[in-house]
Amino acid sequence: MVKPIAPSTQHPVMVVLGTRPEVIKLVPVILALRQQEVPTYVVSTGQHREMLEQMLQVFALTPDQDLQLMKADQSLAELSANLLAAMDRLLLDIEPCCVVVQGDTTTVAMVALAAFYRKITVAHVEAGLRTHQKYDPFPEEINRTLLGRLADLHFAPTEVARQHLLAEGVAPDSVWQVGNTVIDALLLMRRRVESLSAAQVGLDLDPSRRLLLVTGHRRENFGQGLHHTLLGLRRVAEAHVESLQVLYPVHLNPNVRRAVDEVLAGIDNVHLTPPLDYAAFVKAMSLATLIVTDSGGVQEEAAALGIPVLVTRWTSERQEAISAGVAQLVGTDSDAIFEAAHRLLTDEAVRSRRAVASQVFGDGCSGERIAAILAQRLRP
Ligand code: UD1
Ligand code: UDP
Repeated sequence: MVKPIAPSTQHPVMVVLGTRPEVIKLVPVILALRQQEVPTYVVSTGQHREMLEQMLQVFALTPDQDLQLMKADQSLAELSANLLAAMDRLLLDIEPCCVVVQGDTTTVAMVALAAFYRKITVAHVEAGLRTHQKYDPFPEEINRTLLGRLADLHFAPTEVARQHLLAEGVAPDSVWQVGNTVIDALLLMRRRVESLSAAQVGLDLDPSRRLLLVTGHRRENFGQGLHHTLLGLRRVAEAHVESLQVLYPVHLNPNVRRAVDEVLAGIDNVHLTPPLDYAAFVKAMSLATLIVTDSGGVQEEAAALGIPVLVTRWTSERQEAISAGVAQLVGTDSDAIFEAAHRLLTDEAVRSRRAVASQVFGDGCSGERIAAILAQRLRP
């Protein structure tokens, strides 16, 4: 590892985020660093625009720098090139003692690479997730594998993740199992919304119908996979038209929006909405009978809340949720999705066996642990 420099006003800890889940999962780290009086410098790469802004507002977080790199439907290569160049300039200007990134987006991979080129310490939050399938999820599996080499400090959410890193030869004294910071954010937001009604957080729900909450955005599912997933969901909505409402906040990626509109627009009990802010989404999750998603964060949150979740993917880097019983991999086959959802909606005994809240992804104190380790390790 490069020689640590003490955090100071001249050399702050730089925390970099670019997409919706990175805001949610890094807010607990930023709050804890500030609580421990560690100077921080927060950067938004602006990989996402509206979806990032929505999350920053909910947490009242204003980045110190916004690189504004989102362009509509841009390629991974173009985004990567722009990120690398912009981050290099910023690293030279700010001279952070350490760069903290979270997860496996293009932002994470390019920020870590830029820091490596400048020999700046990289701390990786949510380290060690693996499917061991190069293209699944795409491009995230390779991004997080790169972080296994680029990062100096690895904050693994679970024992499984820690073991993945050790198996790849990462030094054991640079890996800490700390839980997933998403649970900190979830518990914070749940406290904020639990005494509020659905309407008070902006949700327009019919209290007489059960709620099926849906999200989906993974690139490896674009095309046939997403289309078949949506056909399965349409069958579920139509089979339970009297008793069920489907709430689907649609990701702003145009490839997702086009596909969703084509199959689900105009169905009476399906409500397609723009992305929900975190308060509304946490309320919706807590009211849901069932969740169908390909999102990583939503699987972790569903496990903490004890809401059964069908995962529309063929592989998972979150086996802990499957072992806990709360999550089931259903792939993108429309029949499999229909059958699994129909079963959970019609057999309460099966549903309640799966509706078990657990702490497999954390206890809500991950941000504090990470901040304490950073503060201690970065002392000269
Ligand atoms: C990205 C991440 C993915 C993460 C997801 C979280 C990569 C390669 N993918 O996927 O790992 O799970 O974010 O949601 O880093 N768009 C908007 N407004 C927004 C956000 C996106 O219009 O606020 C549109 C733009 O046209 C943009 C496109 O969506 O070009 C794709 O955004 P991008 O960040 O490249 O990928 P995501 O699919 O969002
Ligand atoms: N989320 C949200 N509003 C929405 C959909 C999701 O606040 O309309 C939250 C969700 O609770 C989770 C995170 O966004 O914490 C997941 O983000 P996303 O699915 O975009 O990314 P992934 O987790 O797959 O990387």
